[in-house]
Amino acid sequence: MMSKSPVYPVIWHEDRVLLIDQTKLPSEYVIVEISRCDDMARAIKTMIVRGAPAIGVAAAYGMYLGAREIQTQEREAFLSQLEDVAQVLRLTRPTAVNLFWAIARMLKTAYETIGSVEALQASLLKTAQAIQLEDLQTCQMIGDRGLEVLPSNPQQLCLLTYCNTGALATAGYGTALGVVRSAWREGRLARVYASETRPRQQGAKLTSWECVHEGIPVTVITDNMAAHCMNRGMIDAVIVGADRIAANGDTANKIGTYSLAIVAKAHNIPFYVAAPLSTVDFKLSNGMEIPIEERHPSEIYQIGETLVCPPGVEFYNPAFDVTPADLITGIITEKGVVTPSELQNLQVMQPA
Ligand code: MRU
Repeated sequence: MMSKSPVYPVIWHEDRVLLIDQTKLPSEYVIVEISRCDDMARAIKTMIVRGAPAIGVAAAYGMYLGAREIQTQEREAFLSQLEDVAQVLRLTRPTAVNLFWAIARMLKTAYETIGSVEALQASLLKTAQAIQLEDLQTCQMIGDRGLEVLPSNPQQLCLLTYCNTGALATAGYGTALGVVRSAWREGRLARVYASETRPRQQGAKLTSWECVHEGIPVTVITDNMAAHCMNRGMIDAVIVGADRIAANGDTANKIGTYSLAIVAKAHNIPFYVAAPLSTVDFKLSNGMEIPIEERHPSEIYQIGETLVCPPGVEFYNPAFDVTPADLITGIITEKGVVTPSELQNLQVMQPA
């Protein structure tokens, strides 16, 4: 069942975290309650919660839940066990840097807080809540910044997006889908095309669900239809999210994003990446250094319960690819829209 209120994939409720189970959407709306760090790690790994900023928020709460389970009253022992909690969460998914960024910020809070273990635990909860609130505000800013660069002709745009970058993938509102949302609010959106996003179908299952929920006109296409739609003049701009952006602007996002960028270039259609600055990994000089997650082949050989390949076949299932910076028209952040080569200028504004 769908809720009528805005979608928040992660909610702190009384003494636990509530997650929308994104593996069940759109057929079922199920809330999962998480009270322990290990359960949060499992939820991230199995993609009950997913999307770069959303797993950052989830990991931040995971850090608090883990901190709450630590028994000692000794500061040094507490901090050492908190490092173990951090490591459990770091091992969940490798590509989205927001996860590592949020864990680092939580550790920094613990090290910088003076006082008892109880005081440290309390400040960790506060930081997790701050990370969540800031991400929501950041996404709203990204949405509005995006409006500044969307083509002004035609008046009402048809945008193509990929994967799910909406409220479900963030603290709320969304990155690329946040721009779509803002365009819709301002009367500048005719329609969004949501590419299916094989193998896990986040576009077909999640983006379309969010759009229907908000009354945004959405058309789902399979991934191999994008070139045809561009060729027929159906797409004015492409807008995608990011899981990690290297210092030179090379962008890791859901597998298939790279092909979309090539096809957009071939049709002279602007290709935008929308992401918070916490998604930029300034330590990496280029996209070849971004770790790419490989997932279980069942995501390819199975659709639902049905096997779609014969026995004896081998599989390769990278979950992300890297779009080279020269295919990206602009990167839409909460601090402004930049070309990939201008990205370095924003480093000083990156949240600590
Ligand atoms: O594997 P997922 O579903 O976590 O991948 C998510 C994406 O690739 C999104 O496009 C990305 O996180 C964009 S940020 C909202």
